[in-house]
Amino acid sequence: MRNLMQLVVLLLLFSIFTSPTHAKSVIEPCNSSDSCASLLSYRLPWDSKLSEISFRFKLNITDLLAANSINILTTPSQGNQILAAKTLLKVPISCPCVDGIRRSVSTTYTVRPADSLESISEGFGRLVSAEQIKMVNNIEGSLTSGETILIPLPCTCFGNSNNGASTVFMSYVVQSGESLMSIGMEFGMTVMELVSINGLGHPVVDPGDILAIPIPACSSANLNWYNESLIVPNGSYALTANNCIKCTCRSSINLNLQCSTSGLDISCSHLQCKGTNLFIGDFYTNQTMNGYCNVTKCIYRGHSGRKIFRSIVNTSAHVRCSGMKDFGSLPPALAPYPSSVPSTQLSPSCSPYPGAFRPSPEIGALSPTATPPMISSYARLSPTDYFFLLHYFVAIGTFPLYLFFF
Ligand SMILES: *[C@@H]1O[C@H](CO)[C@@H](O)[C@H](O)[C@H]1NC(C)=O
Ligand SMILES: *[C@@H]1O[C@H](CO)[C@@H](O)[C@H](O)[C@H]1NC(C)=O
Ligand SMILES: *[C@@H]1O[C@H](CO)[C@@H](O)[C@H](O)[C@H]1NC(C)=O
Ligand SMILES: *[C@@H]1O[C@H](CO)[C@@H](O)[C@H](O)[C@H]1NC(C)=O
Ligand SMILES: *[C@@H]1O[C@H](CO)[C@@H](O)[C@H](O)[C@H]1NC(C)=O
Ligand SMILES: *[C@@H]1O[C@H](CO)[C@@H](O)[C@H](O)[C@H]1NC(C)=O
Ligand SMILES: *[C@@H]1O[C@H](CO)[C@@H](O)[C@H](O)[C@H]1NC(C)=O
Repeated sequence: MRNLMQLVVLLLLFSIFTSPTHAKSVIEPCNSSDSCASLLSYRLPWDSKLSEISFRFKLNITDLLAANSINILTTPSQGNQILAAKTLLKVPISCPCVDGIRRSVSTTYTVRPADSLESISEGFGRLVSAEQIKMVNNIEGSLTSGETILIPLPCTCFGNSNNGASTVFMSYVVQSGESLMSIGMEFGMTVMELVSINGLGHPVVDPGDILAIPIPACSSANLNWYNESLIVPNGSYALTANNCIKCTCRSSINLNLQCSTSGLDISCSHLQCKGTNLFIGDFYTNQTMNGYCNVTKCIYRGHSGRKIFRSIVNTSAHVRCSGMKDFGSLPPALAPYPSSVPSTQLSPSCSPYPGAFRPSPEIGALSPTATPPMISSYARLSPTDYFFLLHYFVAIGTFPLYLFFF
C-alpha cells in the first residue's frame, strides 16, 4: 500500500507539472482489465431534468436514482423531475483500466452550435477540463456542431478497499472556498485520510482539483451468493437480478446489504421462500415460552439468469422480540447526502401503509396474491433491528443455519 501511495504521489506531482491548468487529480496506475464500481460527485451546473442528467452520462435513469437513494416507486415521472443548479448528485460509473491508468471513457457528447470546450467542461461539472477534452479528442481548431466527442472522466478503484473495508471511491471536484478540512467534514473523514488517499504532498487543495473520496460500502463478499457479487456505497441501493431485487446499503452502525423484492412492475419469479409465506427480505419473529426471540427470515442469495436463489435463515436469541413489531421505525427513503437535494423534493412520501402486514414504503406494491400471514409479528428490519440481529448472528454463531430451497 505504501509503495502504491508513493507511486500515486509521484504521478500526482507529474500531473501537476504537466497539466496546463495545474489542477491536481489522483491517478491510479493499473495493469489488469477488470473494472470496478465507482462514483462521480456531480454538481449540477444548471437546472436539469433527471432524464437529461442520465442522458448526459449515458446512464440508465434507474441507476442514477439508485445511486442517490431516490425511490423509483414514489417518483413515477422521475425523468421529468427538475433538480436545481448546484445540487450534488452521485453518478455511478464503471471504472476500467485504460492505457495503464484508471479512467472512464464510455461517455460521449454530441457538440451543439453554441458549445465551447469550456461550456462542455462546465456541463460535466468540471469533472473533465477543457484541455483534457481537447487533448483526448485531438481537437485542433474549433468544435464542429454535430460532432461526437469523447468525455474522459476521472475514477479510481484502489481495489474497492480502504484500510481493508469495502469502499467505493468517488471523484469530487473541489469548489472555491473549500478546504480539505471542510471536505473532510462533509464526508466524515480527517484531513490526514484525504491527504493519504490522494497522495497529496501538502494538505492543500485548490478549486478544480479532483479528489478521490472513499465512500464506505456494503459488499456481498461474505454473503455467499451464487454467481454474483455486488458492492453498494453507503446511502444508496442497487437493483439486481433483472431488477427484481433491491439491495440497500444504509446504516450508521454496520454496513450490511439489505436485499428485498424491488416491487417494480416486472415479471419476477422465485421471490418467495418455499414452504413459507415470506418473500425475499421479509421475516417474522416469535417469542417462545422460554424467552427466546426466534427470527425466521427469507434472504436473497444471488441469481443465475432469471433464477433467483433464496434461503430461510432461522436465528434465535435470548431477548424480547419487542421492537421488531415497530412498523413505524422505518429508515428514511433518502439517506442524507451532504449539500444534496432535500429529501422532500425527491422522495415525496415515506409513510407506512396503515394496518398493513407488509409495510414496505421503500418497496411499494407487492405481489397482490400474497396473503398476510397469521403470525405474532411481522415487519421489515429497521437498521437498529439489523444491528441487534447481526450482533446475535455473530454472538451466538447461528448464522449459517441455512435451509436451501432452490
Ligand atoms: C500490476 O499492478 C499491481 C499494482 O497496481 C502490481 O502489484 C503488480 O505487480 C502489477 N503486475 C504487473 C504484471 O505489472
Ligand atoms: C440500461 O438498461 C438496459 C436494460 O435494462 C441494459 O440493457 C443496458 O445495458 C443498461 N445500460 C447501462 C448503461 O447500464
Ligand atoms: C455459477 O457458478 C457455478 C459454480 O459455483 C458454475 O458452475 C456456473 O457455471 C455458474 N453459472 C453462471 C451462469 O455463471
Ligand atoms: C452511512 O451514511 C449515513 C448517512 O447517510 C451516515 O450517518 C453513516 O455514518 C454512514 N455509515 C458509515 C459506516 O459511514
Ligand atoms: C410461536 O410460538 C408459539 C409457541 O411459543 C407457537 O404456538 C406458534 O405457532 C409460533 N408461531 C410461529 C409462526 O412459529
Ligand atoms: C426457536 O428456536 C430454537 C432454536 O433455534 C428452537 O429450538 C425452537 O423450537 C424455536 N421455537 C419456535 C417456536 O420456533
Ligand atoms: C425455522 O423455523 C421455522 C418455524 O419458526 C421452522 O418451521 C423451520 O423448520 C425452521 N428451519 C430451520 C432450518 O431451523
